[in-house]
Amino acid sequence: MSATRLGILISGRGSNMETLLKASQQPGCPFAPAIVLANKPDAGGLEKAREYAVVAGAIDHKLYGKDREAFERAMDERLKAAGVELVALAGFMRVLTPWFVNEWAGRLINIHPSLLPKYPGVDTHKRCLEAGDTVHGCTVHQVTAGVDEGPVIGQAEVDVLDDDTPDALAARVLKAEHVLFPRCLAAVARKAGTRVRENVVIDGVTVRLFAPAE
Ligand code: GRF
Repeated sequence: MSATRLGILISGRGSNMETLLKASQQPGCPFAPAIVLANKPDAGGLEKAREYAVVAGAIDHKLYGKDREAFERAMDERLKAAGVELVALAGFMRVLTPWFVNEWAGRLINIHPSLLPKYPGVDTHKRCLEAGDTVHGCTVHQVTAGVDEGPVIGQAEVDVLDDDTPDALAARVLKAEHVLFPRCLAAVARKAGTRVRENVVIDGVTVRLFAPAE
C-alpha cells in the first residue's frame, strides 16, 4: 500500500513538523510528506522542511485581510495540487472556518498541548499550574468546527513537578507531543486504533500514551 500523502500546516518553529518528517523517513511509515505550508512567510519551520527536501511554502494570511475563507481556499488549492490526503496541524495558529473543516472532514488532525477537554485554547501550561493539577499532557484529535473539540485520537500524560514553571512544563509536554503525534498520524494513515496505555521514557521523563476507549 502506498503511503498516505501528508500536508503539514505550521505557523512557527515547526518542531512537531520535524518529528513527522523524521518519522516519515523510517521504513514502513504509512505517511509521506507531500507539502509543508505556513501562514507566516518567516515561520522557522519552512527552512527546516526544505532541509528534509520537502516542498515548503508560505501563504501569508495577512494578504487576505479579514477574508479567512479566501486565505483557506488558497491553502486548499495548494494542498490539493500536491495530492494531499491527510492534513496535520502542527502548531498552526489560525482558527479554521467551517468551510475548510468540512472540506477536510475526517482528514484534518491537530495536536494540542493539554489533556483535552481540559484547557482548550491558549496558555494551557500556565492554566494547568494555576489549577494545581498534578498531571498535564497533550492531545491529538480530529478537527471539527468547535476549537479543540473534535474526537480524541490519542493522548500523552506528563507529571507536573512541585517546582514547575509554564516554560519547564511546556518543554516536557513538547517532548511528549513529539512521541504522540507521529504515532497517532501513523494510526490514522493505517486506519488502525492507537495502542492503549504504553509508557515511553524520554530523557528521563515518563510519558504515558493512551487512546480513549472505542
Ligand atoms: C505545540 O505545543 C503544539 O501543541 C501547539 O503549538 C506548539 C507548536 O510547536 N499547537 P512547534 O512549532 O511544533 O515546535
